[in-house]
Amino acid sequence: VHCRSVTELEIENDGAIGVDKSGVIRFVLRGAGGNAENIKKTLEFKEAFEHGHVEFVIVKKGGWFFPGFIDTHIHASQYPNTGLFGKTTLLDWLNTYTFPLESSFSDLDKARKIYSRAVARTLAHGTTTASYYTTFHVPATNLLADICLAKGQRAFVGRVCMDQLSPEYYRDESIEIGTENSRKCIDYVRSIDPAGEIVQPIITPRFAPSCSKGCLAALGKLQKETDAYCQTHISENKPEIELVQQLFPESGSYANVYEEAGLLNEKMILAHAVHLTPMEKELIVRRKAKVSHCPASNTALTSGCCPVRDLIERGIDVGLGTDVSGGFSPSILEMVRQTVWVSRHLAMTDGDQAKLTHEEALYLATRGGAKVVGMQDKVGGFEVGKHFDAQMIWLGDAEDIEGCDEFAAREGPVDIFGWENEEDRIAKWVYNGDDRNTLAVWVKGRLVHRRKEYDC
Ligand code: GUN
Ligand code: FE
Repeated sequence: VHCRSVTELEIENDGAIGVDKSGVIRFVLRGAGGNAENIKKTLEFKEAFEHGHVEFVIVKKGGWFFPGFIDTHIHASQYPNTGLFGKTTLLDWLNTYTFPLESSFSDLDKARKIYSRAVARTLAHGTTTASYYTTFHVPATNLLADICLAKGQRAFVGRVCMDQLSPEYYRDESIEIGTENSRKCIDYVRSIDPAGEIVQPIITPRFAPSCSKGCLAALGKLQKETDAYCQTHISENKPEIELVQQLFPESGSYANVYEEAGLLNEKMILAHAVHLTPMEKELIVRRKAKVSHCPASNTALTSGCCPVRDLIERGIDVGLGTDVSGGFSPSILEMVRQTVWVSRHLAMTDGDQAKLTHEEALYLATRGGAKVVGMQDKVGGFEVGKHFDAQMIWLGDAEDIEGCDEFAAREGPVDIFGWENEEDRIAKWVYNGDDRNTLAVWVKGRLVHRRKEYDC
């Protein structure tokens, strides 16, 4: 199962995907033995198998392969705070929960525990690619890149830059030192994976309020020099936007602050984008910058409801972000649900056109996210030439309903009467599933996560 288009899934009941040793998809068969071409490929495949060159992975009965999820915005360093936000909104949430936690990443042992767990858990939720924020610490940031590479999760790893408006104990000493530290992280990440197949660096100004004009300009220059990706936050809540107006009165708009620094381009991932003006949206379209939609976070911190349909219709590429720990869950499947819910809340005030279906949200979680991180030719769906980044989904066994309870989604997952179609099963997964249904996960053909029920 993968997304055929923004609105439609493609479901192949009787198919096969051939993956070579480097993890690249070499053929996709639809309808076993359906036509001469398929039969020929199957025979070649079988021959290779008999010569011991091929390994078979068979989907558990009633299950399916789905493309790995892409989390376009997640703070690995905030993982221990998942679920903690109380009644705060963005600016007091940062001071209360976030800066104290992030500043503690000077302790590498702590960093190792937290980052290992964050990567293992996001893999368990089917996230095969993640765009991470770390903290301002160079050693801990480099450690996250090591962990992602070792565990096999595709990742963008970004050292957080900020030189103002955070506590004194947690900000770059100067623009020069901050930029140099970011350059060190870029060089390190590129040294451990020169081809950038699994880990890549990403320049990460936290957001306009915590970066001086000089800091943003220096990072704009660094981006030109290194041609690295860049990520930041934009227009998340109203007090933040007012603060940007006060801090950058000449810029005219929040989006223009990044534009003036040379940061608004097709390699920029903008998180939230809840309250953009029409002019800002037009600028973002012209610059081909991308948006990470973070529905759980926007609801938790009562930031607002992002008008995703409007962004998509204007031609902006949109992906999903958990925004842990503004967001309360590291699961992109949960973000698919939250995307649907937020769009429905918007529809109750703005009209039905705002509503997104779960098929559309699944598109944003896979192919949409792939565009946001510039990997649409590599991941997001099952086509020849793409890399095999996938998860095996299974809802449980109709013959063993009690046995299912331990691990599979419990709420009506099993087709007791035998009258459900594939679309029904996918809807059940989206609305009631969780990491228990993700039996195994592959990145570039490598098995990077498995549950005990996976027995292939
Ligand atoms: N804006 C600046 N920093 C942050 C952060 O850590 N999380 C979120 N959600 N918004 C931010
Ligand atoms: Fe964030």
